[in-house]
Amino acid sequence: MESPFKADILKGKVGLITGGGSGIGFEISTQLGKHGASIAIMGRRKHVLQAAVSALQSLGIHAVGFEGDVRKQEDAKRVIESTFKHFGHIDILVNAAAGNFLVPAEDLSTNGFRTVMDIDSVGTFTMCREALEYLKKGGRGRNSPSGGSILNISATLHYTASWYQIHVSAAKAAVDSITRNLALEWGTDYDIRVNGIAPGPIADTPGLSKLAPDEITIKAREHLPSYKIGDKWDIAMSAIYLVSDAGKFVNGTTLVVDGGHWLRNPRRLPKEEVKQLSRVVEKRSRETPVGVPSSKL
Ligand code: COA
Repeated sequence: MESPFKADILKGKVGLITGGGSGIGFEISTQLGKHGASIAIMGRRKHVLQAAVSALQSLGIHAVGFEGDVRKQEDAKRVIESTFKHFGHIDILVNAAAGNFLVPAEDLSTNGFRTVMDIDSVGTFTMCREALEYLKKGGRGRNSPSGGSILNISATLHYTASWYQIHVSAAKAAVDSITRNLALEWGTDYDIRVNGIAPGPIADTPGLSKLAPDEITIKAREHLPSYKIGDKWDIAMSAIYLVSDAGKFVNGTTLVVDGGHWLRNPRRLPKEEVKQLSRVVEKRSRETPVGVPSSKL
């Protein structure tokens, strides 16, 4: 699909995307690049990074990859410094690196819980904290009159409760808190906007293939009448809106991009039944005042 944004809306910007080598992170990297940004991607696996950088470069995008694990502060610091050295400034940080697997809470070890908290929540904070120096208004390499922008990839799991994902629900709840707190503190002090995206199920992503592999998807669909799957494009367009000047007055929000999926609430009463009954019930309720004993009527 064609982008509704101008091709140069991010011209001159530099974006660093963690987990930018695959899935949603790669699509965000691609679309930010197609809209004029230079791209640095950070990831743990060398071959994934190399393939992603080649793919971006083949689209004419100025792209570079840096190996690193967001759980390690020294990696975060090194990758951010390398991005700065390579491009001269950093304008956009996208925290898309995440860990996930399905597991009943009773089978999850403390280390398993901590591992996802470390990647999603602590990793997001660490990257933001290390990038502050470069993103803040007047920060290193900044010649723009404003501060930069942070985008944290979240989820909707914790809005209610989610089966077999207690670790990810907790981690993404923390991510949303990080988004709001940094938006308040750094928006006020440093003119940095901090927002998030909470994607629903998105086709062709490691997330979907891990959480809804073909073996279970068909069965799961039977229980979700409004089950819809989005495209990576949907997330990337929202990302452009939030990190570009199109979203310049948006700060501290996490945009749900899920086709209404998290509102899933099975229809317990058929529509036709409601249509037929509603008027009848209303008429009866007007004829019979509530609270008046029938003996007094
Ligand atoms: N069920 C239960 N526990 C699991 C598990 C599973 N499917 N997978 C991992 N764990 C546990 C491990 O047993 C270990 O705990 P333990 O030491 O008490 O045994 C802990 O989680 C850490 O696992 P480990 O394999 O050492 O971590 P890792 O750093 O190599 O990998 C993961 C991190 C587990 C999050 C891995 O899935 C990953 O790298 N994910 C990134 C990609 C991804 O998930 N993308 C989807 C994004 S939505």
